[in-house]
Amino acid sequence: MKTILLGSAFAAGALTFSLSAEAAGRLNVVCSADNAWCELMEAEFEKKYDIDVSMVRKSSGEAYAQVRAEARNPKLDIWWAGTGDPHLQAAAEGLTTEYKSPLLDNLQDWAKRQAENANFRTVGVYAGALGIGYNTDLLKSKGLPAPKCWKDLANPAYKGEIQVANPNSSGTSYTALATLVQLFGEEEAFKFLKDMHRNVNQYTKSGSAPIKAAAIGETTIAITFMHDMVTQKEQGAPIEIVSPCEGTGYEVGSMSIIKGARNLENAKIWYEFALSAEAQSMAEKAGSYQVPSNKDATVPENAPRLTDIKLIDYDFAKYGSEKTRRHLLSRWDEEVKTAPQ
Ligand code: F6P
Repeated sequence: MKTILLGSAFAAGALTFSLSAEAAGRLNVVCSADNAWCELMEAEFEKKYDIDVSMVRKSSGEAYAQVRAEARNPKLDIWWAGTGDPHLQAAAEGLTTEYKSPLLDNLQDWAKRQAENANFRTVGVYAGALGIGYNTDLLKSKGLPAPKCWKDLANPAYKGEIQVANPNSSGTSYTALATLVQLFGEEEAFKFLKDMHRNVNQYTKSGSAPIKAAAIGETTIAITFMHDMVTQKEQGAPIEIVSPCEGTGYEVGSMSIIKGARNLENAKIWYEFALSAEAQSMAEKAGSYQVPSNKDATVPENAPRLTDIKLIDYDFAKYGSEKTRRHLLSRWDEEVKTAPQ
């Protein structure tokens, strides 16, 4: 593609044209999926299109913060992956651009609904449910009971044994916070979070870090998405995956084009690539086991199926709204992070 553009520029005999054609060959991506999948997407995209991708990996809440901070002078063109709630917040704040992909009708209903909820300023690219994971060897050697429910995690027997991310930086952890509020009501959820806080050994920046830590024996229990637990199990780690007895929440991993993107046409090319069955079917190669949004994409055999899990009716419009996110995150900062251990 770059060659054709350069060719026509030279035919027009204008140096300025050739320079802008070079610029048209770039794309700045912030990626909020697992690093291996981000890298695979970048490599496959660059193989297929003559576009140089510059990519950074950031957790969902951090990517949102960057998009917001750069609103007047955007450096990013596209935000690919990460939990849907901060994408919805960015859409409502006008930080992302409306775009209707011709592939919309090939997408699962939950992915289309995500787009409709945001006036097409974001779209669903995959889905996955939250769970509790634990290291079976550690649990056994410490003589601890196996957790079955969210509320079990407040058991004082688990002091120092649980790891979860900080919901400000991590979309995974915000999904957990919003899930608990939807399951138990806000007051009871915060009481539970303060009780569980006594058992938490670390609030990590990235959502999948706790299950990686459990896999190498650095924590016994982790709260993450189940597909991130599958990744560790597939690599041979002694991880057991629990679907909490009360029910659980899920993410609609999303993608948004940044408002004012300097490489808008290339952002659209990435958008179509990322929604294609071809690209989505590659996730497993990078050890990612979410359910893809394109109905024609191959669902990895080990991907936790949403239909097999007791899911809550997650209210994405409410919990992805600026008002609710801001309120829950500041309450978490004030009451949970600072609670006594
Ligand atoms: O590791 C992959 C993943 O769990 C995605 O499914 C999800 O959208 C993303 O990570 C969330 O990451 P974080 O919690 O760091 O924002």
